This record gives sequence, structure tokens and C-alpha cells, in this order.
Amino acid sequence: MTKPTFLPYGRQNITDDDIQTVTAVLRSDWLTQGPAVPEFEDALADITGASECVACSSGTAALHLAVLALGLGDNDAIITTPNTFLASANCARYVGADVLFADIDPETGLINPESVARLFEHDSEHRIRAVIPVHFAGQPADLPALASIARQYGAKIIDDACHAIGATYDSDGQTFKLGNNPHSDLTVFSFHPVKHVAMGEGGAVTTDDPELAEKMRRFRNHGIVRDRFENESMASAGDGRANPWYHEMSEPGFNYRLTDIQAALGRSQLKRLPESLARRREIAETYHHLLDEKFAAGEIRPLELLPNVNHAWHLFVVRIDFERLGISRAVVMNQLRAQGIGTQVHYIPVHLQPYYQKLGSPVPGALPGVEKYYAGALSLPMYPELTEADCRRIVEELERILNRVATHA
Ligand SMILES: Cc1ncc(COP(=O)(O)O)c(C=O)c1O
Repeated sequence: MTKPTFLPYGRQNITDDDIQTVTAVLRSDWLTQGPAVPEFEDALADITGASECVACSSGTAALHLAVLALGLGDNDAIITTPNTFLASANCARYVGADVLFADIDPETGLINPESVARLFEHDSEHRIRAVIPVHFAGQPADLPALASIARQYGAKIIDDACHAIGATYDSDGQTFKLGNNPHSDLTVFSFHPVKHVAMGEGGAVTTDDPELAEKMRRFRNHGIVRDRFENESMASAGDGRANPWYHEMSEPGFNYRLTDIQAALGRSQLKRLPESLARRREIAETYHHLLDEKFAAGEIRPLELLPNVNHAWHLFVVRIDFERLGISRAVVMNQLRAQGIGTQVHYIPVHLQPYYQKLGSPVPGALPGVEKYYAGALSLPMYPELTEADCRRIVEELERILNRVATHA
């Protein structure tokens, strides 16, 4: 019998057009940051509606550029969610700022604005300068509520939309896009291969603030400026023109440049974003129907959907009451893998990582929402090429594994 195809939990989609676009760059004069980078930035600015877009080497670099642009440092703190990839918290540590973790709603996996408000209320020294919510799995967090809390305290919002390019939310009778809305100052994207738009590695920040954008462009390239010099006598021979070789650095930055190779791939992928989002939404619907049909008693439940959002479905997360069912998550994952089905857990709560525990983050048990969520979370395969038959195979395999436990109990 032939083995069924392995279904990973996430997977990039590369077409002949993508390959031709990248090949054209390889034959061009530019490999590192050249004309393809601003072309990609313009395309992402168009999609999000933001006036400024700064592309860079990864989502992690994008987060770092965002906190640098806001000027965060040693005496500051940020609030983020523990239900995220490490980078959403680590970016604050790169500039010496402290990380405070708010709890989440275990039904959605999203940061809980009430928990954020409590952290601000206890911030007697006014150290919290920014909130970094994550649009977990592709579903927008409650930006209007978070912005209204943060702004009472003069803090900024950097929303991490690494899972959620193309998602929207409704507020006050209007529809807002992630990446351009009045409830955030900077929005961060990732173009890692499991995300909607794959570049190998890549990231971007959108904003409507040209000053923040200018700082991020500087920090992405070692802090170098080629205009507005401090040292005028070195900059020019006195004829009012800058010396052709001259550049200046007032503050060190990084090499967070994106290459033209990556940008061209990203630009080609962005063209397919509408169809890839539509396909992900169809797959999510198929999963919802199948789970309703096979697990009517709620043994396996998808995350709750908010009524006012259009989800981008980076991940399809289900919650399973492993304890009640008498089976461990590791056994379920291993048995699925043996049948050619990859799953993943998003995420190990970041505040429980040894590094954050040593820094005095909330101890186990202190953030009950995220711990309840974590105990039952499992991400099923989600990517545009998944077929309805694949979804049926995944849900039926889960049913077989859980039935086997029930009959042996
Ligand atoms: C929520 C979130 N934030 C940030 C990142 C970091 O992005 P990158 O892997 O492009 O550095 C990721 C990537 O996995 C992510 O999922």
C-alpha cells in the first residue's frame, strides 16, 4: 500500500511565476537591497493602506526596529501576550526594556484588555511605554479597546500581525485593516515560509508616521545617513555639496536589510494574497463543519471566532480536553505523525520560559487564562494546498485515535 502524503502543519506555496521572478533578480545587477525592495514596500503599503512601509530581514528584526523607533530603553517596559512566538517579547529585551505579560482569553487565544488595564493600573512609576498585542492565529486582537487603554497612559501600540496579513476588524460601524488603522502606531509582519507570504526570511513594519519610518530605515542599515550631516567640515569640501563617499552614523544600527531576491519573491507572492486568504477561509469552514459533525459533544473545539473580524487563518488551532479524554497531547501528536499528519503547539507560554522566569515573570499558575489555553491547544495543518479530503483525513484520524482510547478505557 502506498503511504499517504505527509501533511505538515504549515507549508509555503511556490509557483513557476515566483521562480521566474526570483531568477530575473539573480540575473540582474542587484542581489542585496536594490529596486525590488521599494517595489515590495509599495505593494504592501497598497494592500494595508499604510502610508509608510519599511521592509527588513525578518519579523524579529521588524519588531526590533519598531521598539528602536519608539526610543524604548533601559528604564521602560512593554506589555505583551504570553501566547506568542518568543520574538514579540524578546524585542523589548534587545533594548533593555522589561517585559510584562498580560493574560489571554482561553477561548480565543488573544490578549485580554482587562489584564492589560490592570498592569497599567499597577505601573506607579509610569514605565510602560508600549503594548504589543498579537493577532494570534490570524484573528485580530481587540485593538480599539487596547488603544483606548494604552493612550490613557501615553503608551504606544505595536501590533504584531505576523499571523494576520489581510485580516480586518469592524469598530464603530467602520472596517479597519491591520497595518493601517487609528488604533495602532506600528504594525509588524513576518514573511517566514509558514506565513501567508513566504520569502525564506523577511519582515516589514507599516506606519503612518514618516518620522518613525525614517528612523527604522536608518536602523535597518547600521544607522547610516547620507543627508543631514552633523560634521559639516568632513561632509563637504565647502562647495555646499556632500563629498561623494561621505556617510555618517550618529547612533549604531544593524544590518536588517532585505535582499532583492527575497523582496522579488515576496512581491510575486503578495499578488496571490487575496486567493490564498480566500482558500484559507474555505479550509477553516471545512474544518468547522467536520468538527461539528464528528465531535458534536465538544471533545474537540476550534478557537472561538469573534463576530466583528475577518480572520486571516494563519493557524487552525483546536482545543482538546486531553485530561478528560485520558490521553496525552504527546501521544495524540505522535499517533497523528505516524499516520502522516503533522501538528504543532502554538505556543508554550513565553513567560514560563526559563529566561523570563529568572527575570521574575509571573510564576506558574499566575496567568490562568494562558495556562488553560495551553493545556488543550493543538494546531492542525493549515495551508492553501490542503484539500477537503485532507481535512477529512485529519479529522477522521483524530476521531479514530480518541475512539481507541474510549474503547480501551
Ligand atoms: C507572532 C510572531 N511574531 C514574530 C515572529 C517572528 O518572525 P520571524 O520568524 O520572521 O523573525 C513570528 C514568527 O514565527 C511570529 O509568529
